[in-house]
Amino acid sequence: DWDASSIIEDQVKKIREKVGDAEVICGLSGGVDSAVAAALVHKAIGDQLTCVFVDHGLLRKGEVEQVKHDFVEATGIRLITVDAADDFLTALKGVTEPERKRKIIGEKFIRTFEKAQQQVLEEAGARGKEVKFLVQGTLYPDVVESGGGDGAANIKSHHNVGGLPKDIKFQLIEPLRTLFKDEVRAIGTELGLPDEIVWRQPFPGPGLGIRIIGEITKERLDLLREADAIAREELTKAGLDRDIWQCPVVLLADVHSVGVQGDERTYGSPIVLRPVSSEDAMTADWARVPYDVLATISTRITNECRQINRVVLDCTSKPPATIEWE
Ligand code: XMP
Repeated sequence: DWDASSIIEDQVKKIREKVGDAEVICGLSGGVDSAVAAALVHKAIGDQLTCVFVDHGLLRKGEVEQVKHDFVEATGIRLITVDAADDFLTALKGVTEPERKRKIIGEKFIRTFEKAQQQVLEEAGARGKEVKFLVQGTLYPDVVESGGGDGAANIKSHHNVGGLPKDIKFQLIEPLRTLFKDEVRAIGTELGLPDEIVWRQPFPGPGLGIRIIGEITKERLDLLREADAIAREELTKAGLDRDIWQCPVVLLADVHSVGVQGDERTYGSPIVLRPVSSEDAMTADWARVPYDVLATISTRITNECRQINRVVLDCTSKPPATIEWE
């Protein structure tokens, strides 16, 4: 018989015993796992925890605020945010190849986190404390996938931009290590985290960077963020959030097609909707979103995003196609 509040109690006790009066650092990605892990550790040791959030500029509309404001408000956690959007854009200039994008984003992420980590160490030092632990939101399926070894995500290594350097300076705290996703969500809710965080669908570490097919620019990111926000809003309104595993919204930035918007001929880029249903992302089927919902999304995107004159639906399963386009 599974019960969120007794798991929380149990973990709080364990974390307190383990940490003593040392300090703890935790990286937030905006996703469910790191948020719940942080909230749990914070419940146990309060201000001995400092979280670090690297804003790489590749998140979706509203997500940075969710972390910086909603999450902090719900938990009272001390948070250091690094606004690195410009840095990431500079590093990605001219890059179009997906694996190179991933590599650049992953490396830049680690470097940026390390700098913030240095700040956390110094601030703790000024309080006469030592940072000894690093929190990770490893779940049970991650442990299984990586062969039960230390440091999850060997198989998914290229996947986990949120994956931090394995730092021997720190001992790991992994309070979610025995849990499945639905259990983690239940704990997040019990800890008072906002639904937008607790029920967030899977989102890749490299973010919108791998949903712009072509070079990543500020303008393209802003455009995709708008289109993506519209699609999410309408899917939520239609009550489809928990039926759909995730719905990447992709900008085919280097493709142009002719349209007629208002009284004008336009020559704009298409947006692809990629709603999928899945159990674990290893295989997936394209989700049969009702035509009416698709129609509303399409109309709104082409009305509200001036540079988009065409919306197309990806109706391919995985395999043969992956969920993301890159
Ligand atoms: P694919 O595209 O391989 O995606 O079918 C399977 C799942 O993994 C997510 N994904 C990623 N997650 N970093 C991540 O953290 C990545 O580079 C990455 N690429 C894909 C994808 O969103 C889906 O849930």
